[in-house]
Amino acid sequence: MKIIRSPISMAAWSERLRCEGVTIGLVPTMGALHDGHRALIRAARLRCDALVVSIFVNPTQFGPQEDFTRYPRSITRDRALCKREGVDVCFEPSPNAMYPAGFQTSVTLPAIACRWEGEVRPHHFSGVATVVAKLFGIVRPRLALFGQKDFQQSALVRQLVEDLNLGIEIIVYPTVREQDGLAMSSRNVYLSPDERVRASTLYKSLRAGAEAIRKGVSDVKAVQAAMVEVIEREPMLTIDYLAVCDPTTLEPCPPAISQVVLLGAVRLGSVRLIDNLLVIAPRRSSSRKKL
Ligand code: PAJ
Repeated sequence: MKIIRSPISMAAWSERLRCEGVTIGLVPTMGALHDGHRALIRAARLRCDALVVSIFVNPTQFGPQEDFTRYPRSITRDRALCKREGVDVCFEPSPNAMYPAGFQTSVTLPAIACRWEGEVRPHHFSGVATVVAKLFGIVRPRLALFGQKDFQQSALVRQLVEDLNLGIEIIVYPTVREQDGLAMSSRNVYLSPDERVRASTLYKSLRAGAEAIRKGVSDVKAVQAAMVEVIEREPMLTIDYLAVCDPTTLEPCPPAISQVVLLGAVRLGSVRLIDNLLVIAPRRSSSRKKL
C-alpha cells in the first residue's frame, strides 16, 4: 500500500492508472477509522480496480467552537486497517497542501444543505462540499462511496456531482451500527461510559417514528411526537431536530409519500449525535388499484 501526501503526486498516480484503463474508487474519510468506514472500504474494494482512501481532518468543515483540534486521530491504526482491507493508496494531504496561501474558491451550497445540519453548523457543509470537490479533482475517481449515516452530506455530494457535471458515480452505503443500534462514529469516543449507554436513545427514537409510520400514522406532528416521547424519557438528551422529510429534497413532508427519511440530531453532554432512518410508508387502501 502506498502512502501519498502530496496532491500533485496523488493526481499523477491517478492519471497514470486512468490512462491504463484502470477504474479508480475513492472513499473520503477524516480517519479514526471504525467498522462503518471499513464497510465502505470493503464495498468500494469490490467495485473498482484501484482503491484510494483519503484521510484528512478537514479544518474548513469545523466551526470556530467545534472539535477540530481534539478530533480523534489514529493514523498508524488507520493505515493498518487500510492495508488489511486491500487499499492501494492512503492519501494523507496536509492542511497546507490542501489550502495553500492564496486559496480562495469555495462551493456555493444547494438548498438541500441549508436546513438541519446546515442550520446548526453554518460553516460545515461549505467546508465539506469544497473539500469533496477538491478530493474529486485530485483523485478523479470513477466512483466514490459515502455513508448513509451522514444522510444530508451524501445528498449534498450527489447534488454537487450532478450540478457540476463531475461524472462520478456516488454510492451510498447503509449505516453500520453498534449492537444497541447506536450509529458508529469517530466521535463516539467522546462519550463517557454512562453517556454511551444512553446514546442509543436517538436510534430508538427514530425507530419509534418508523413504527408509527408503519402503523399508518400519516400526520407529521404525530410521528414527531412519537420520536420526541422516546428522547424525553432520557433527561440528559436535548433535541436539535427530529424531522420527517422527503429523502430527495430534505424538505419536511407528511409520511404519505412512498418513502420518507427521519432525520435526528441530539446533544448528550458535550457530544452531538446524528442519525437517520429511511422508511417506506405503508400503501394506503384508497391508493390501491381496484381489481
Ligand atoms: P468521516 O466522518 O470520517 O466519514 C467518512 C465516511 O464514512 C462518510 O461518507 C460517512 O458517512 C461514512 N460513515 C461514517 N460513519 C458511518 C457508519 N456508521 N456507517 C456507514 N458509513 C459511515 O464524513 C466525513 O468524514 C467528512 O465529512 C468527509 C466526507 C471525509 C469530508 O471531509
